[in-house]
Amino acid sequence: MFNASVFIKEAISAIQDQAQGKTVIAVSGGVDSTVAATLGAKALGENLVAVHVDTGYMRKNEVETVIRLFQKTPLKFTCVDASETFYQSLKGIVDPEEKRKIIGEQFIRVFEDAARKEKAEYLIQGTIAPDWIESGDDLRDVIKSHHNVGGLPPDMELKLVEPLRDLYKDEVRKVARELRLPVAEQQPFPGPGLAIRIIGEATPERTELVRDACFIVEDEIEQAARKKKIVLPWQYFAVLLPLKTVGVQGDLRAYGYTIAVRAVQSIDAMTASYSDIPHDVLDRISTRITNEHDDINRVVYDITNKPPGTVEWE
Ligand code: XMP
Repeated sequence: MFNASVFIKEAISAIQDQAQGKTVIAVSGGVDSTVAATLGAKALGENLVAVHVDTGYMRKNEVETVIRLFQKTPLKFTCVDASETFYQSLKGIVDPEEKRKIIGEQFIRVFEDAARKEKAEYLIQGTIAPDWIESGDDLRDVIKSHHNVGGLPPDMELKLVEPLRDLYKDEVRKVARELRLPVAEQQPFPGPGLAIRIIGEATPERTELVRDACFIVEDEIEQAARKKKIVLPWQYFAVLLPLKTVGVQGDLRAYGYTIAVRAVQSIDAMTASYSDIPHDVLDRISTRITNEHDDINRVVYDITNKPPGTVEWE
């Protein structure tokens, strides 16, 4: 049986053994990296610097929320706006694995830069078990290269410290509750962000569309949960399909993108089942998305479990 308080003591001493000097920690604002940052701060104190990367593929208001979260802590914190570099590096890229590898490398280049400024040799990441299991190895197929594992460049200069490597999401949440972190119950958001919620090329224009669609999905589903119409799903979001279909808006022919809405229940992210969202909630989501965006004229709901689907579409 997993014991969060025992884990916390052991993780702090493991970090102290592995990181023997100045260290940077990659923080996204999610549960995994916030837990890793809190353990890192307890272990290393002033030797730790938290770095948040604005990739341009974050959700609406997310960067500001992360900045506020970390400014409340005693940790030294810096936010790097790398959005232009990320957009440029993904120009013309459509293959999901290629996207993930490029994103993984871009993250590391930003962390290496920050580490050089801080004279740090170590990088703490909030990697958890499904990240390396799905990224594959000699024994396992590559399901998808998680940005923080399969996306690491071979010439990376930093030494990695991964205190949550053997934990599953439900266990990380137990640790977050034990540490009384405000993000403990927050839904997961993948490091590659909205770039993997756009099928095909993740252009800035498509990113704006999926950013708004994700916001609407989150808003409507959270409202329905507050009104007790549904239990809040484990994860819920929108995916932009580059597929254009014919529609009609007013009296005019429309030819626009499709948004897929995904909501799932899971415990550990290794398996998931699609959530049963009432039709009136789906209807509000569809109406809002298509009313607010002329470029989108169709919304579909994904009823695939994992397996055979994965949670994210890329
Ligand atoms: P999949 O799509 O593999 O997702 O069923 C399982 C969980 O992992 C998240 N995910 C990622 N998280 N880096 C991350 O930090 C990644 O590259 C990545 N890919 C998927 C996904 O959102 C879900 O919660």
